Amino acid sequence: MVPLSLAKSLASSPRSAEQCSADEATALFRADVLYGLSQPQKAVPPKYFYDEAGSRLFDLICRLPDYYPTRCELEILKARAAEIGALAGPGASLVEFGSGSSIKVRLLLDAMAAPAAYVPIDISGPHMRAAVTRLAEAYPGVAMVPVEADFTQSVRLPPLEDGRRVGFFPGSTIGNFTPEAATAFLAHVGDVLGAGSALVVGFDLAKDRAVLEAAYDDRQGITAAFNLNLLARINREVGADFEPSAFRHRAFLNGAESRIEMHLESVRQQEVSIGRHHFAFARGETIHTENSYKFSADAFLAMVRHAGWRQHAVWTDPKGWFAVAALERDGEGR
Ligand SMILES: C[S@@+](CC[C@H](N)C(=O)[O-])C[C@H]1O[C@@H](n2cnc3c(N)ncnc32)[C@H](O)[C@@H]1O
Repeated sequence: MVPLSLAKSLASSPRSAEQCSADEATALFRADVLYGLSQPQKAVPPKYFYDEAGSRLFDLICRLPDYYPTRCELEILKARAAEIGALAGPGASLVEFGSGSSIKVRLLLDAMAAPAAYVPIDISGPHMRAAVTRLAEAYPGVAMVPVEADFTQSVRLPPLEDGRRVGFFPGSTIGNFTPEAATAFLAHVGDVLGAGSALVVGFDLAKDRAVLEAAYDDRQGITAAFNLNLLARINREVGADFEPSAFRHRAFLNGAESRIEMHLESVRQQEVSIGRHHFAFARGETIHTENSYKFSADAFLAMVRHAGWRQHAVWTDPKGWFAVAALERDGEGR
C-alpha cells in the first residue's frame, strides 16, 4: 500500500505514522499541536478529540435531541439494510472506517448473508476494543478483527475470506475533510478495499442554519464538553498548560464554505506553554478544531466519481436532512 499524503482538512504537521507505537503516536500528537498552534489561524486536527473521554462524549452527542445526523442515518440504514445486504453478497467482510461504538454496523450485519468478518478501524483503541467485545457476543459467527490506526494513513487490512469487501463509513465523518481531502480519502479507501469492493458512506446535507447550529451547540453543553476535552487531553499527553475554563466552545455555519466550524475561543488575553514553546492568545482568538461539511447530493457524487467509485444508490431520510450513498468499485475483486 502506498502511504497516503492527504491534504488535511485542518492544519497538521507534515509528519505521519502508520499503526504506530504509543510513544510515536504521542510524538506525532505533540508535533501536530505545535504545528497547528503556530499557524495564523490556530488549529488542531479533529482526530484528536477521540481519547476515551472524547469517545464517550461523542456517544452522548449521538443521543442528543438536537443531534439529528445519528437518528436520520439510522432511519436510512434500517430502511435500506436489505438492499445493502444484497449489495454485499454472501460471505462478505465489512470494514468500518471510524467505527466508534460499532452501533450502526449491527443493522448491516443483521442484513448480510453469512458475513465473514468485521474489521473496525479506529484511532480510539480502547473504546473500539470494548465495543468489539460487546459485538462479538452478539455475532459469534463473524470474525472480529479490530485495527487501531489512523485511517488517513497507510492501512493494511488483515487477511480476509474470499467474499466481497464492503467499506462502511457512517457518521458523516467524511464531512470533517475539505472536499479535496474527502476526494483523496475516498480514493484511498478504494485502494485499501481493492477492486470489486463496495462502500456505504453517510454524508450530511445542506439545510437550515438554525437546525445545523443547534446540532453542534446543544443546550446541555455536551458538544462544548467534547470540544473542551481536547485541551485537557493536550495538557495530559503533550504537557501543555491550557486552562480549559479560559476557553469557550463556539460552533457556527460558515455559509460560504457550506460547513459547520467548531472553535475554542479564548475568553481573555493569555499565554499557553508547551515546554519551551509559548503561544499568545488575544481575547476572542480561536483554535479551529473541526469542520463538518454539508453537501448537496450532486456535489458529493461528483467527488465520489473523481475518487473512482460508481454510484449504486443514494438514499435520504424522509426529511431530506441526511444521505447514505452505496458505491461500487470496478474490477474482479476477491
Ligand atoms: C464522528 S465519529 C463516528 C462514529 C461512528 N462511526 C458513528 O457513525 O456514530 C468518528 C469516529 O472516527 C474515529 N476517527 C476520527 N478520526 C480518525 C482517524 N483519522 N483515524 C481513525 N479513526 C478516526 C473516531 O475515533 C470516532 O470513533
